[in-house]
Amino acid sequence: MGTVVTTANKEANGSAETNKKFTVVFVLGGPGSGKGTQCSNIVKHFGYTHLSAGDLLRAEIKSGSENGTMIQNMIKEGKIVPSEVTIKLLQRAMNESGNDKFLIDGFPRNEENRANFESVTGIVPEFVLFFDCPEEEMEKRLLSRNQGREDDNIETIRKRFKVYMESSLPVIEYYNAKGKVRKIDAAKPVDEVFETVKGVFAPASNKVAA
Ligand code: ADP
Ligand code: C5P
Ligand code: MG
Repeated sequence: MGTVVTTANKEANGSAETNKKFTVVFVLGGPGSGKGTQCSNIVKHFGYTHLSAGDLLRAEIKSGSENGTMIQNMIKEGKIVPSEVTIKLLQRAMNESGNDKFLIDGFPRNEENRANFESVTGIVPEFVLFFDCPEEEMEKRLLSRNQGREDDNIETIRKRFKVYMESSLPVIEYYNAKGKVRKIDAAKPVDEVFETVKGVFAPASNKVAA
């Protein structure tokens, strides 16, 4: 693990100064809570670039990368891919985007994701947007998502909920203790959820403009 972090640090050195200028909002919440849906809306209104860790991992499988089979197996089991892989994908996407404001969706998913992202990139999130949604509602949404995802079946969904409760909620708690969590009731219809989300971003963007 020490080697992994050292290597990643070395690679990040070239972009260390760029990283300092990056504004990052982590978008967290259970599977099916509406992270991707709301991120699309935020992008349109507030000029962020949306980076979904899950989407980047799925693209990596499709690209025929040497990690593809490992990632595919982890996703099928609802397990969290080692941060070394995910952080490299996120760094590459940030550096290639040309933007300096990012919504990082579905990351950090566990303590290992969180601690390594911070030590490798030096980036601390502005805040954490947390979509809070009951499990029954998330399950209903996932089962009707219809995007052909191999993990949107009831067996994998149950595993993903377990990982969320055991590994991801503690990360949200970590940021909550630092006063960084903006909790949104995500059980409402899409438009109503976005109205609440706007209230979180509007003051922040005014501050930047002022
Ligand atoms: P996540 O990225 O958190 O897994 P998605 O944004 O992909 O969630 O949403 C999961 C499914 O639920 C999608 O089919 C989406 O259209 C639907 N959905 C998202 N938000 C809502 C909402 N507020 N009410 C009902 N359905 C929603
Ligand atoms: O966020 P999304 O639902 O697209 O994630 C799908 C899967 O991708 C997760 O269940 C997990 O297997 C993998 N993933 C991961 N590490 C992350 C984000 C997603 O391993 N930080
Ligand atoms: Mg998503």
